[in-house]
Amino acid sequence: MGRIPQEVIDRILDRLDIVEVVSGYIQLKKTGRNFKANCPFHNEKTPSFVVSPDKQIYHCFGCGAGGNVINFVMKYESMDFPEAVEVLAARSGVDLPKYKKNTGEGSSLSAGLYEINKIAALFYQNSLRGEKGKKPFEYLKKRGIDTGTLDEFRIGYAPAGWETFRKYCEAKNIPADVLRKAGLTVPGEKGRGDYDRFRNRITFPIFNERGHIVAFGGRVMDDSLPKYINSPETAIYTKGNVLYGLNFSRKSIRETGSAVIVEGYMDVIIPFQRGITNIVAASGTALTQGQISMLRKYTNTAVMVFDADKAGESASLRGLDILVENGMDIRIATLPEGEDPDSFVRKNGKESFENIVNAAKGLFDYKLDILIERSGIRDIGGIVDEMLPTISKVGSAVIQSDYLKRLAERLGIHEASLRYEMGKVRPDYSYRYASESNVDRKSRNYRSSEIHLLGLAILGRDKFFRIQDELRLDMFRDRSVRKIIRLLGDLFNGGEKDINPGKLLSRLEKDEDAKTAVVQALAKMEITQDVDKALDDCIFCIRRENREDELKELTSRLKEAQQSNNNTEMRELLTRINMIHKEKVA
Ligand code: CTP
Ligand code: MN
Repeated sequence: MGRIPQEVIDRILDRLDIVEVVSGYIQLKKTGRNFKANCPFHNEKTPSFVVSPDKQIYHCFGCGAGGNVINFVMKYESMDFPEAVEVLAARSGVDLPKYKKNTGEGSSLSAGLYEINKIAALFYQNSLRGEKGKKPFEYLKKRGIDTGTLDEFRIGYAPAGWETFRKYCEAKNIPADVLRKAGLTVPGEKGRGDYDRFRNRITFPIFNERGHIVAFGGRVMDDSLPKYINSPETAIYTKGNVLYGLNFSRKSIRETGSAVIVEGYMDVIIPFQRGITNIVAASGTALTQGQISMLRKYTNTAVMVFDADKAGESASLRGLDILVENGMDIRIATLPEGEDPDSFVRKNGKESFENIVNAAKGLFDYKLDILIERSGIRDIGGIVDEMLPTISKVGSAVIQSDYLKRLAERLGIHEASLRYEMGKVRPDYSYRYASESNVDRKSRNYRSSEIHLLGLAILGRDKFFRIQDELRLDMFRDRSVRKIIRLLGDLFNGGEKDINPGKLLSRLEKDEDAKTAVVQALAKMEITQDVDKALDDCIFCIRRENREDELKELTSRLKEAQQSNNNTEMRELLTRINMIHKEKVA
């Protein structure tokens, strides 16, 4: 269900040449059989990014990125798998029937909730255009929202009665529990019926990344409190996992290469209407890990726009570290006292807002300026304590070093003492090793001989059959390696002559570990001169390693047997140990 069949993917891969596709994005240079370039996925001066036309894969020796042509487009264009396949299908002229995207939106409860939210949004939109909607419509007009924008953001009005929407749904035979589960109604107390959550409020549908409505925000039209109420969390809505506006702005974020992050609904809507289209809102809270991961699919550069009063708060300062930790290049823009992006853009226009965004300070300077402004230069200890954790989270050692130097200069202290203090801050490499290149971390867990052998096995059926003859599957320690060897076995034994590594990768689907293993294995082949010797060596190594493992195991069991005076067991174990020692010599 929902999956694009393997044969369709194979057909796409058959028709495409990875070299041709990648050259559309970056300039490749031919070297020998392969093509090289500076890696588009990390900063480098000497090219370690290799594209192999034979294998139909790419690999970077620097950052470990690698995969087939689909993976390349996914990564380069920040697309998900179905999106990338769609683009490449069009390019290769393969007809892609509409497969339902597998986004977790398929389950029946979720489907019901998406559906009812759609119905609600439409109901509220109609009510805004109806008789009772005159006042809210005026209110929105006064706030500078065009009718086009009202439609695009699907802004509406929830009528004042307690049960208007509930009754509307009842008449349409929509079950009451669906409304409740969607958070659109609230269960009444003491046996009374459910009532509408949103009453006499402007409604802002909250969309997920793909533009489906997952929740609503509702604003009063005067100064009463609470100003906003929002849907509760539901099966399809987790507060920290939505960036308001991303469905509208993701294209522009990708194109401009950066995002503007603001606080509220109106702070997205008004600038967007005026042409600032790369904008999202965190909706009044500090950014969460989930929101950042979502944003990072489109860009790693963002400007946070703070109100003047928010700017100096310690909490908002600390909240920024999480962005640095996630490898975001983050800058901060401050608006004049009393303004938010909505009011500022309305008063001063698009260009002034853009100027403020362009003048945003880097996090380092911003934080340091605020700290010095707040406490004066005397509180050196306090400033250092706030700054060092931020600096320690910067991924690049060069930039870190530069920051330390500048911090020392600003505070008039020795760089060496800062470096000493820095040593006490727990180094946190979560960015580099957790998100960017799992590959590096995982490769340490692979047995190098296994990975190398895997590369040889992919080379062709002769090599594979030799491996099959000499080693049992259970002799491979790594789960992913076993899985791939088994898959290769199916293919070769099924008559396949050559394995196209690009296709092999696509068969591994979402198994990131296995894909990493393949990419690492192929990378090893790039530096293998004598294939037959490598094959001998790897087989020898794996056998030896297995013998050693087995010996260890047997020896420890022997010890146990000795302790419990189990003579039969001891004799048996000794025989096996001797056999292994003999094998070793043979
Ligand atoms: N917010 C919320 N619930 C509240 C208050 C605020 O969800 N009770 C969120 C909303 O997303 C809101 C954002 O935090 O847009 C910022 O809040 P605030 O600055 O108070 O409101 P504005 O966005 O400026 O709203 P308006 O311009 O309509 O007054
Ligand atoms: Mn506002």
